[in-house]
Amino acid sequence: AEEESESSVDSEPEEAPTDNRSEASAESAQAHLPPAPSGARGQSPVPSSPAETPAPPAATPAAASALARPPLKPAVFIPVSRSPEMQEERLKLPILSEEQVIMEAVAEHPIVIICGETGSGKTTQVPQFLYEAGYSSDNSIIGVTEPRRVAAVAMSQRVAKEMNLSPRVVSYQIRYEGNVTEETRIKFMTDGVLLKEIQKDFLLLKYKVVIIDEAHERSVYTDILIGLLSRIVCLREKRHLPLKLLIMSATLRVEDFTQNQRLFTQPPPVIKIESRQFPVTVHFNKRTPLEDYSGECFRKVCKIHRMLPAGGILVFLTGQAEVHALCRRLRRAFPLTRHRPPEKDDQKDSVEETKRFKKSRARARKARATTLPQISLDNYSVLPAGEGDEDREAEMDDEEEEALGSDLDLDLGDDGADGGGQPDASLPLHVLPLYSLLAPEKQAQVFQPPPEGTRLCVVATNVAETSLTIPGIKYVVDCGKAKKRHYDRVTGVSSFRVAWVSQASADQRAGRAGRTEPGHCYRLYSSAVFGDFEKYPPPEITRRPVEDLILQMKALNIEKVINFPFPTPPSVEALIAAEELLIALGALQAPPKTERVKQLQRSRLSCPITELGRTMATFPVAPRYAKMLALSRQHGCLPYAITIVAAMTVRELFEELDRPAASDEELTRLKGKRARVAQMKRIWAGQGASLKLGDLMVLLGAVGACEYAGCSPQFCEANGLRYKAMMEIRRLRGQLTTAVNTMCPEAGLFVDPKMQPPNENQVTYLRQIVTAGLGDHLARKVQSEDLVDDKWKNAYKTPLLDDPVFIHPSSVLFKELPEFVVYQEIVETTKMYMKGVSTVDMQWIPVLLPSYCQFDKPLEEPPPAYCPEKGRMLCHRASVFYRVGWPLPAVQVD
Ligand code: CDP
Ligand code: MG
Repeated sequence: AEEESESSVDSEPEEAPTDNRSEASAESAQAHLPPAPSGARGQSPVPSSPAETPAPPAATPAAASALARPPLKPAVFIPVSRSPEMQEERLKLPILSEEQVIMEAVAEHPIVIICGETGSGKTTQVPQFLYEAGYSSDNSIIGVTEPRRVAAVAMSQRVAKEMNLSPRVVSYQIRYEGNVTEETRIKFMTDGVLLKEIQKDFLLLKYKVVIIDEAHERSVYTDILIGLLSRIVCLREKRHLPLKLLIMSATLRVEDFTQNQRLFTQPPPVIKIESRQFPVTVHFNKRTPLEDYSGECFRKVCKIHRMLPAGGILVFLTGQAEVHALCRRLRRAFPLTRHRPPEKDDQKDSVEETKRFKKSRARARKARATTLPQISLDNYSVLPAGEGDEDREAEMDDEEEEALGSDLDLDLGDDGADGGGQPDASLPLHVLPLYSLLAPEKQAQVFQPPPEGTRLCVVATNVAETSLTIPGIKYVVDCGKAKKRHYDRVTGVSSFRVAWVSQASADQRAGRAGRTEPGHCYRLYSSAVFGDFEKYPPPEITRRPVEDLILQMKALNIEKVINFPFPTPPSVEALIAAEELLIALGALQAPPKTERVKQLQRSRLSCPITELGRTMATFPVAPRYAKMLALSRQHGCLPYAITIVAAMTVRELFEELDRPAASDEELTRLKGKRARVAQMKRIWAGQGASLKLGDLMVLLGAVGACEYAGCSPQFCEANGLRYKAMMEIRRLRGQLTTAVNTMCPEAGLFVDPKMQPPNENQVTYLRQIVTAGLGDHLARKVQSEDLVDDKWKNAYKTPLLDDPVFIHPSSVLFKELPEFVVYQEIVETTKMYMKGVSTVDMQWIPVLLPSYCQFDKPLEEPPPAYCPEKGRMLCHRASVFYRVGWPLPAVQVD
């Protein structure tokens, strides 16, 4: 292998490849990653001058290989016995005609990018090409990463079926489960799983090929994997054990990979798969977007089903709960057993729609009387899309209110549709949900043909946007929104918010309608709103805190995180914030004091990981919570800490009861329930020491009580707990227990649903553990002598925020107003409220959170708050402290 001499042109000085490194050091300490590989090897067909970045040699790999060495014939050819039907189906896929081009490019280049629209066959076919060409001979594995668990499972099953191979050979591995065996040759996994494997075996020696699928999604782990693999490919080449890297994307937007010289000094070849997409007519909503997009989806599906010819419907919603709610409504409206009269319940459920409908019908009648028959088109404008589709559309719009009405209000029959008798209005609808956490066997149902004489309707979250292709979809209903994690840089609070998708995502969604024949996409928002969407979603890594990632990278001994070849790097502030937090948590070694002042930034961004950090990195939770777990191996606290961490990780254990009520009746019910939940919270929080643990004691009590009651949906319902959240907590508790046992077998933990409540001492230890984990979320009550004005009454001050924050009224500490608290998160509604609050004793602060303190004389020994040998906190003597820039009383600690 020739020595690659190109250095990354514009990188930091430290990045300059220090060659002559021994391979051993390259392997054992990845602190200095090797230089970027050249995607196109020495004899690249692309002239590369660093000043003018060349365009990737799109779709010319065949020509490229002609220039280079003669095409490498695969040494082995592994025959596959596919069924004739399967083979026929495969041959229809556009990627099949590119097999040779792809395989030659792979033979020639260490890194290849494949772009092709969703459904062109990338995920299912490329692993098969590689298998047949012998890339899994010698017991090695073809690895494929997916950003979503759903896709990893579904794709492994599909490929196994296509190849007529057992799941023992074509397998999957996801966070909670897998079916990988010794015989596994093609392995689908989530990207997180591969990252963990890199921590165990940096060179990934058991793989000959790694495919990073869905790279256009730019999930954080995908980005990190591409960065890491760019280096692993080099190391493997040096060892004469080449590893092939394939990056697959559903869009052509790959310049972050091809034009990034830090990543690949020469752009890897890009192979484009021509799509076989049928035209999709896009219909925009005319009205201003509705808040109630679920209801709007329901109405739209009703209209389509009533009025339009056969063809599957795919609905995009934002979350699991919405998906289920809509499925329920649709099943009631169109039961699978024909002509079932609607139940009382259904009518009640649709009272709102009926009212709305009646109004709009009146409107429509009026319009009809005064204008041409073209009425009630207030919902959709038809974009010119050719094919004479407009006609049919106009017809549909004409009838759409009626279509809806006949569904909800049975006496409207004569008013109803007369749409040419083509669609059968009583045709049952085969409604299926699809979202990430759905059980795999249920997910698989969407790929089955619907029962004879029914129409398929899949209600999905954006998993159906690119990862999965559902056969037979002709109509797409797009609410235009997706649940996105929102991160506030100031408060450090991250939360899920429903927000508009990007134009690229909306187009992806629309494209799902044109897989098998021309289709239609109904967008429940106006074209003006669409115009305001961002063009592409920004890569996830730029939108969220990165402390968890940085910890994982440090666990891989990548110390100078700032030099890491990210496809798109996170901001320096985000990196610094992450390292600061990890240093404060004790996961990274703080730089020496002198350096600290001088070159804060640079040295801060290259802190090595500590023993504690390594322990923390093994837990699949955020670093703050991982710290709590790492501290909990004392005084029998582990089971409690695991439960608290699981409950904090799963969002919103308690039902939302502050919602506006639709009727007086409901208001009374809600009030009753609020009182009951408040009472239960007080009971779970207990008194005295226990109450000081505050809302986290409530979580512990609620989970404990619920498990004791057999975790029944009834118990949850009666006490305002979300059953789903409770199930997720149970699963996470199991997983965390396994993680603890793996790391520390002598702990011999098992999940005991009926755990006894912690004793008084344990509660105090738990409070200390929580304080140590949430140290950067410390807040102090504003003292009466400091009261500037009334807006600070009962307020708390945090180091980062200038504004007052308050304990949330739902907290059991709302009336207690302790002087020092730590909080789980701050939510902003009318005020800034702290949620998940727990009391801190002032004396603990210098002991447990020394890095947030300033001492008037140096501490005796560097104070790890955690002593791994003794497995407990060390109390050390400190003296007076102040938090920098944050007025606090002096505390004397002995
Ligand atoms: O990865 P890409 O989006 O390019 O396509 P794919 O997932 O490999 O899907 C190729 C074809 O296989 C699609 O047309 C799907 O309809 C079909 N497929 C299927 O019928 N059943 C599955 N479980 C997966 C894919
Ligand atoms: Mg795919």
